[in-house]
Amino acid sequence: MNNLNSNIIAVDGPSASGKGTLSRNLAAALGFAHMDTGALYRAVGYEVLQAGANPENESDAIAGVQSLKSKLTQSNVLSNPDLRLDETGVAASKVAVIQSVRDALTNLQRDFAKAPPAGAKGAILDGRDIGTVICPDAPLKLFVTANEEVRAKRRTKELQSKGLDATYKAVLEDMRARDARDTARKAAPLRPAGDAVVIDSSDLDEAEMLELALGYAKKALAVS
Ligand code: DC
Repeated sequence: MNNLNSNIIAVDGPSASGKGTLSRNLAAALGFAHMDTGALYRAVGYEVLQAGANPENESDAIAGVQSLKSKLTQSNVLSNPDLRLDETGVAASKVAVIQSVRDALTNLQRDFAKAPPAGAKGAILDGRDIGTVICPDAPLKLFVTANEEVRAKRRTKELQSKGLDATYKAVLEDMRARDARDTARKAAPLRPAGDAVVIDSSDLDEAEMLELALGYAKKALAVS
């Protein structure tokens, strides 16, 4: 990959590992632009559900990609709060298994990494395959993880704080099913890149995570 911007941080990890919060905090601290690539898959899943179609069916999922692409110029399409619903996350993990869906979203992500919005000093992308597939040449790759119980508690709290009716047991079950799909799939399975730094966030708070990651960023990238 021939990067124009080479200040790229790839952040991968399972759901509710803390990778999204860390990525947003890192982007703010470094003046980098941030892309939550999970939101792209969620938005495709959402389009499929809205159409009453099946996220496991390839042609339905590709129709979802096309519908999303036609709306991407509307700035709020990726900030629709319904994208955060657990049912949307489940649909996202189903469309994400399909290689042609992944291929159709690849350039959007690489273009962002290579040419982040004007003024940004670099790009941070978080997802499942950023270090392994989308930006394998990123000078810094972080793989954020946390134990299952911590992740399920975090997700339950997050959903309940939005007034949603979430129970720990249901969230844990959905999370296990999604983890299994994300990890076992043939297309870009969730795994750390060989040169990724693994951060276990189970016992770290937001500030500790940021401090740790900033230390790696200062060593690996042209940032101060
Ligand atoms: O990070 P998230 O929970 O918002 O992601 C939703 C789903 O999208 C997740 O189950 C797997 C998929 N995904 C992916 O396959 N590759 C990415 N780069 C990002 C997300």
